[in-house]
Amino acid sequence: MESETVGIEKLEVNGDSSPEDVVTPWTVESTNDTGIDYDKLIKKFGSSKIDQELLDRFEKITGKPCHHFLRRGIFFSHRDMHTVLNLYEQGKPFYLYTGRGPSSDAMHVGHMIPFVFCKWLQDVFNVPLVIQLTDDEKSIWKNIKIEDAIKLSYENAKDIIACGFDLNKTFIFSNLEHVGSNPAFYQNMIRIQKSVTFNQIKGIFGFGDSDPVGKIAFPPTQAVPAFSSTFPFIFGDAKLPCLIPCGIDQDPYFRMSRDVAPKMGFPKPALLHSSFFPALQGSQTKMSASDINSAIFLTDTPKQIKNKINKHAFSGGQTTVEEHRKLGGNCDIDISYQWLRFFLEDDDKLSEIRKNYTSGALLTGELKQELIKILQEVVGSHQERRKTITDDLVKEFMKPRDLGFVLKK
Ligand code: TYM
Repeated sequence: MESETVGIEKLEVNGDSSPEDVVTPWTVESTNDTGIDYDKLIKKFGSSKIDQELLDRFEKITGKPCHHFLRRGIFFSHRDMHTVLNLYEQGKPFYLYTGRGPSSDAMHVGHMIPFVFCKWLQDVFNVPLVIQLTDDEKSIWKNIKIEDAIKLSYENAKDIIACGFDLNKTFIFSNLEHVGSNPAFYQNMIRIQKSVTFNQIKGIFGFGDSDPVGKIAFPPTQAVPAFSSTFPFIFGDAKLPCLIPCGIDQDPYFRMSRDVAPKMGFPKPALLHSSFFPALQGSQTKMSASDINSAIFLTDTPKQIKNKINKHAFSGGQTTVEEHRKLGGNCDIDISYQWLRFFLEDDDKLSEIRKNYTSGALLTGELKQELIKILQEVVGSHQERRKTITDDLVKEFMKPRDLGFVLKK
């Protein structure tokens, strides 16, 4: 069997003379104004492009129009999505898995991409979803006290629940709380730890000799929720296929899951990869929680949103109104336009904006205004929903329980 494992150093080396994009679970960087070259990334990672044929099949089998994240290529790459559609077509069960590393109490709008999409997939396929909060990872990488990391998990869980997940079909867990109380979880971790060598981990994740051993031991913890026997209280002993929607930076963990799956007697998990929501300053980097001016946070006020976009959103327009009217703007590098692709669901309106900005009829200030209005609405209504999420409701979501799935095998 050929391994899918590609080392991080290999991902950073370009075959041609252009400077290399870097995409790892810790760094996303490009020197190109238009951002990461995603076609090249697909080749390097060995995944498959989400093409029109897959989208058509998706619509035909589910009977639902594709989400605009799919239509616009925001989710652009996959592994084995045709297999998942086959299962759905045959009425066979599978489940969804995604996660979040709670490094701060304020999530930014980029973090919401996989969750908004998962909520849509959960509705379309009517399947269970497990959400892992890797507070252990953040405690090790960011040197956060264990107790504080757990608190961050609970804060982030509120933002995640506010995306509208169905309590009856969703289990959210903090690694620091859950792993020690679930022997099946620990046993699967050990199964992976036994079959992956230090060299492979170094190759996949790039760790060095002076990294804490916690970093080296961590990857199996993120890999095991892709195996249904990790959650016997949900799935019993069924060996169910898993579909993981995530940003493509997380793929190294799941290449590892896919490599060990046959040894563990499990189907390889399928994946849907999203591109990155760019930083306000431009598409060379992704929006990051550690640079407050690069991102819009779910806690930002309408005024903060307005000021950040007016001040920091990189413009693809010309320097004077006269020049802009004459030469037009460049939507491919304009961050306000790029962000509208994520938030403005109306395809006709988006293409009208593109046409008018490109021709120069729409000015940068007017384009920014469109984005400010939509973001204030999106963030404002998220804040309203979050206010209704009580601590008790969070505990319900985080209680290991039967989701009514085991019996329906
Ligand atoms: P984290 O917290 O860094 O990110 C959570 C999810 O959000 C995606 N993401 C983005 N997507 C689009 N644009 C961005 N600017 C952006 N920034 C982050 C990430 O790719 C991820 O899908 N170790 C993980 C937590 C985790 C996980 C998982 C993620 C545990 N199990 C399973 C995905 C699937 C982490 O720290 O994610």
